[in-house]
Amino acid sequence: MQTALTERLGCRYPIVQTAMGWVADPVLVAATANAGGFGFLAGAVMTLEEVEQGIKQIKSLTDKPFGVNFHMYVPHAEQIIDLCIEHQVRAVSYSRSPSSAAVKRLKDAGVVCMPTVGALKHAVKAVEFGADIVVVQGGEGGGHTGSVATSILLKQVRKAVNVPVVAAGGFSEGADLVSALALGASGIAMGTRFLLTQESPVPEATKAIYLQTPPEKIITSTKLDGLPQRMILNPLLSRLEKASSLQMLLLAVKNGLAFTKLTGVSLFGMLKSAMAMQKNTDLTLGQTMMAANAPMMIQEAMVKGHPNDGILPSGQVAGVITELPTVAELIERIIREADQTFDNLNALRSPN
Ligand SMILES: Cc1cc2nc3c(=O)[nH]c(=O)nc-3n(C[C@H](O)[C@H](O)[C@H](O)COP(=O)(O)O)c2cc1C
Repeated sequence: MQTALTERLGCRYPIVQTAMGWVADPVLVAATANAGGFGFLAGAVMTLEEVEQGIKQIKSLTDKPFGVNFHMYVPHAEQIIDLCIEHQVRAVSYSRSPSSAAVKRLKDAGVVCMPTVGALKHAVKAVEFGADIVVVQGGEGGGHTGSVATSILLKQVRKAVNVPVVAAGGFSEGADLVSALALGASGIAMGTRFLLTQESPVPEATKAIYLQTPPEKIITSTKLDGLPQRMILNPLLSRLEKASSLQMLLLAVKNGLAFTKLTGVSLFGMLKSAMAMQKNTDLTLGQTMMAANAPMMIQEAMVKGHPNDGILPSGQVAGVITELPTVAELIERIIREADQTFDNLNALRSPN
């Protein structure tokens, strides 16, 4: 199956495994590449050393191309760009665009720039900054997300930009791939579906909660860090959702206290940095403290395996996923189903 995406990325199938903090590790990325898809390492939550180690580990597990995700606002962003160029990583993904100069540096070195956007205006801006491909993530998608559904956003963006568009948010099976291609996408990108595979490092207890949760219980909330984020409505998020400003502050302090034991940062230190952060936002102090705790709250569920005490970012699609295939089984199945869907659609055409 050849599309502009497979041509640019050098992969067999137009299926992308997106970056997910603490989930898209070297093993998952390499498994995706070996199965014919294209995976992104979750470099946005890694130190520079971890990114370099991750790239080396992927290269030891596969000779296929892969990508690295990073945030432009981390202090070592420029060094991650250097690493990607040095190691000839095929593509980078990001949500806030690096400067035009940084994008040019990547492109001159042959690295494909492939941002994820959640709104039409961000897609247009990303292309102005030099993006080679844009991934549009609709509101169904997991983690930070926009408010426009994938089907609508795709139609908006494909008309507005002159680069290949990849659709993300809500996909899990072969018919999804066919429908996205029919709507003009060059491929699909999936997060949650890859999170729920054998190779994903997420602890079994946490995966079990994803498999049990219906779509209605996977909501968008701004309570974690002030930005709309789609997550499973578990006991912790339910408490956050109902909390008043004062309760939010108390919860943040309580969480902060638990995490100070783990990180060695004093509660006073945490309050001080929260107050400094709060100056530039509309958030309450409680919300700002909560935002500062967000990475640790996510790790509590996604790394330590305590799904009721942490946060579970998830696409709504988890509500229709029932099992944990290997990555190879998943990709082969999607391609088989897509072929079958093409045949079924063809059979609908009248012979005349
Ligand atoms: C657990 C989880 C963690 C995520 N972490 C990141 C991240 O670190 N960087 C990023 O750009 N997107 C992140 N996302 C968004 C995904 O990369 C992807 O765009 C989204 O999951 C697509 O929607 P889907 O889950 O319906 O497939 C995350 C999503 C999930 C579910």
